Amino acid sequence: MKIFYNEKTQSFHLRNDFISYQFSVAEGKYLTHNYWGKAVSDNHSAADYRYADRSFSVNPNSIKGRKFSLTTLPQEFPGDNNGDFRESALNLRYEDGSFSTHLVYDSHEIIKGKPAINGLPNTYVSKDGEAETLKISLIEQTKKIEVNLFYTIFKDYPVITRSTEIINNSNLTIDIEKLLSASVDFDHAHFDLVQLPGAWGREREIERHGISRGIHKLDSKRGTTSHTYQPFMALTEPYTTEHSGDVYGMHFVYSGEFVANVEVDEYRKTRLQMGISPEHFSWRLDQGESFHTPEVVMVYSDQGLNKMSQDLHSLYQHHLIRGEHQYRERPVLINNWEGTYFDFTEKKILSMADEAAKLGIELFVLDDGWFGKRDNDFSSLGDWFVYQEKLPNGLKALAEKIKSKGLKFGLWFEPEMISEDSDLYREHPEWVLKAKASSPSRGRDQFVLDFSQKDARRHVLNQMKKILDEVPIDYIKWDYNRNMSEIGSQDSSIRDGEVSHRFMLGLYEVLEDLITSYPAILWESCSGGGGRYDPGMLHYMPQTWTSDNTDAVSRLEIQTGTSMTMPISSMGSHVSAVPNHQVNRITSLKMRGDVAMAGNLGYELDVTQMTDEEKAEVKDQISFYKEHRKLVQYGTFYRIYSPFDEKDRTSWMIVSKERDEALMYYYKILDRANTLSERVKFKGLDPETLYQVNDSDVHYYGDELMNKGIYIDPLASVDGHGEPMPLGDFRSEIIKLSKVITN
Ligand code: DGJ
Repeated sequence: MKIFYNEKTQSFHLRNDFISYQFSVAEGKYLTHNYWGKAVSDNHSAADYRYADRSFSVNPNSIKGRKFSLTTLPQEFPGDNNGDFRESALNLRYEDGSFSTHLVYDSHEIIKGKPAINGLPNTYVSKDGEAETLKISLIEQTKKIEVNLFYTIFKDYPVITRSTEIINNSNLTIDIEKLLSASVDFDHAHFDLVQLPGAWGREREIERHGISRGIHKLDSKRGTTSHTYQPFMALTEPYTTEHSGDVYGMHFVYSGEFVANVEVDEYRKTRLQMGISPEHFSWRLDQGESFHTPEVVMVYSDQGLNKMSQDLHSLYQHHLIRGEHQYRERPVLINNWEGTYFDFTEKKILSMADEAAKLGIELFVLDDGWFGKRDNDFSSLGDWFVYQEKLPNGLKALAEKIKSKGLKFGLWFEPEMISEDSDLYREHPEWVLKAKASSPSRGRDQFVLDFSQKDARRHVLNQMKKILDEVPIDYIKWDYNRNMSEIGSQDSSIRDGEVSHRFMLGLYEVLEDLITSYPAILWESCSGGGGRYDPGMLHYMPQTWTSDNTDAVSRLEIQTGTSMTMPISSMGSHVSAVPNHQVNRITSLKMRGDVAMAGNLGYELDVTQMTDEEKAEVKDQISFYKEHRKLVQYGTFYRIYSPFDEKDRTSWMIVSKERDEALMYYYKILDRANTLSERVKFKGLDPETLYQVNDSDVHYYGDELMNKGIYIDPLASVDGHGEPMPLGDFRSEIIKLSKVITN
């Protein structure tokens, strides 16, 4: 890995074994993008921009007469209202109302390692030599405002991270109306766009389509990243598949409002951009003040989408997630939500815990309903003290009783919310998030607590700490159950345009405090399932509740889409009761277990209601999972068949780093009459290793499994004569491979 600077050509080349990223200073002024892709040799990164006079393009000053134009220049960080008519990367509004920005190169610095971004989540390095950072300083030509672009290249990843800082060195007050984190120009538009849109209960669907003239925008104006779009966008060449071809991805390390743009201009050139959404954003910068954006992870793959996913998983695993649980095997949990909803007593919880312990479950999570006077979702958010009538012996006693059964104890919170019917609201109605002079909408009958106000967030933090200091808590589920609306603050010192970002800074401050004060706790983030499943939250909480939809078939899509960017160790996946509460579907316990066992396994049902037969099956699932969970959670993940490409089947595979162990998951969704099987080809194995299949005496070499494949026909059940019945819906099979040790 190295960052090269060629003084003669004023060109930069960030290179490691996998990628090159090149740009240069055109005409001594303009930062010109030259290349992003597979690693290339040398330092020939001087601008090879083809000067050309194009009608209706405009020319800055007199550089090269009519042949040099920002209208056609591939740029690194385009300013605004300056002759580049494509989307800008920043908009500044000056005191006099003007808004034209011409950014020109001033200087650069190469920094060892990777500086942290204060108050924001970011990828990090922990050893010397893992990354190098290039800081480019641009100056606004007339106003003397400084804009710093940070590029970090990691040694072991095809990844560059980018962020932007602005320093107001002028003698003016300015308003930042838009400040993106990254912008890249490609000199063609032969791309498909891959995105992960969704909704509650069907998060992160994979959509792929060609790009065309104009701007395709994904964004959030909802206060958080939300279920609707993942802050992720990838351009692929049209021939790219899961396992071959070029991919250029951007993923935002932030949990608030974002924008991702892909623009194809009149010359069929493509601009890809990402950053904080400008929609609700306006940040005042007085003289001497600065603002730093969150970072964008830019990932390149020349081996298709699956390799991009593997690199993101690994980067996040090693350089984003932190703390004691970073590499720890995740416990098998039981969560009482779908088992009881709000309707529980201490006795009920203890009886569930009793059964759970017998099955081998390791952690009991008490979900919503334990605090204030919470019997439904109309009340008590903000009152983080025990609901005495429901739990008369208190939380500490309950936790101790649960722990005495050999289980760990976890608790649910939704700290960023406030119910109208709560002591907190009665005492502090001014802490409700709402634009001045507006009346706030309710979502799930609750308001958002204004975390941009320090007193409000400190109040909740202190309430939580009181509980954490008293009760032996091993795990916390941090929920967030509505979108923001009427974004603004009742605190007159906070400008409404700053609230959505200040809210995030407030949230990150509270999270940093909690995870450092209680390092042993395992944190799981949640937002009505996976509504805030983003790299920002992953920096604080190593697990996420993937979706409220626990139906095994729906989960095939949800977990496949999630695997596009998020590591398996972060993905909560639970077995729930049938008929399923979200889609009313009935699937076998085997299928539900086999799907949940491809993530962090949990159970979310009333275990006391299960038959002995079901309990025996669950016990087996848990013991199989415990034996293999290190591989599941930390192995290399492959998508073999995607439910977005094929209706009837899905298949995933997880292979150990040493390639001596693997699990292959195969799911048959709907059956068809009168079909014949085809062989399934495995991925990621060592071609020369001999593998044993499922503890049997059947052995195959890796190359046989990967190239020739084997037949897999999961059984539905056996008929009255004990004969296997291969037909039926919702069948699944987990195939275990282990290296045969020969002497
Ligand atoms: C939404 C979460 O996703 C559920 O798992 C559950 O915790 C409920 N909130 C509780 O209100």
